[in-house]
Amino acid sequence: MPKAGTVEIAPSILSADFARLADEIAAIELADVKIVHLDVMDGHFVPNITIGPPVIAKLRKYSNLVFDSHLMISEPAKYAEHFVEAGADHITFHAEAAAEPQRLIDRLHELGATAGICLNPETPVDRIKAIAPLCDMVLVMTVHPGFGGQKFILDAAKKIIQVREIVGPDIRVEVDGGIDAQTAPIVVSYGADTLVAGNAIFSKPDRVSAINAIRQAYKVNPT
Ligand code: DX5
Ligand code: ZN
Repeated sequence: MPKAGTVEIAPSILSADFARLADEIAAIELADVKIVHLDVMDGHFVPNITIGPPVIAKLRKYSNLVFDSHLMISEPAKYAEHFVEAGADHITFHAEAAAEPQRLIDRLHELGATAGICLNPETPVDRIKAIAPLCDMVLVMTVHPGFGGQKFILDAAKKIIQVREIVGPDIRVEVDGGIDAQTAPIVVSYGADTLVAGNAIFSKPDRVSAINAIRQAYKVNPT
């Protein structure tokens, strides 16, 4: 994961054409992004199923971007190692799903990956107060996980302010759900520095200009 201190857009392939994933990642590389966000869903923790380690291992051959794997799965500790072996650079797991989060963070670090913890919209920041400073990134969901293209939940975004207070400037704070040129300036003003965007990028024919439109919005319209 790139060192904190810059705002990065992490395109989420959830809204990409899954039959052409390598090409879709090549298209976002043209916009000089550093991170690609890979949404992993198990049909149990969330009501949808996406990709697993075999797909990540294949994609690894086509891209040097930072693979930011967002595990929306039950029992993340059971599978985390498989994702790192497949080539994931960073693993975020859900606070609501992990039985022993500290142990999992330590294990990910031992495996050479960076580690993140994620909060659903209804989960209070207090839940991760002790553990957040041990992570490389904290992810605040601004939609209920499971699907792309949902409406941004402003009340959930406000938790970014509390998370940033807890972690200080050196840990990344990522936000995921409903990020576009309208909402990006809001979350950046709250302290987010890693902006996941799926629908706002992959629903547009020109991925590069869609990414640049989001960048332009938070640079030009600080709230
Ligand atoms: C939702 C996923 C997101 C999703 C965001 O459960 O975690 O990463 O792709 O999609 P948009 O940007 O369309 O809200
Ligand atoms: Zn995600």
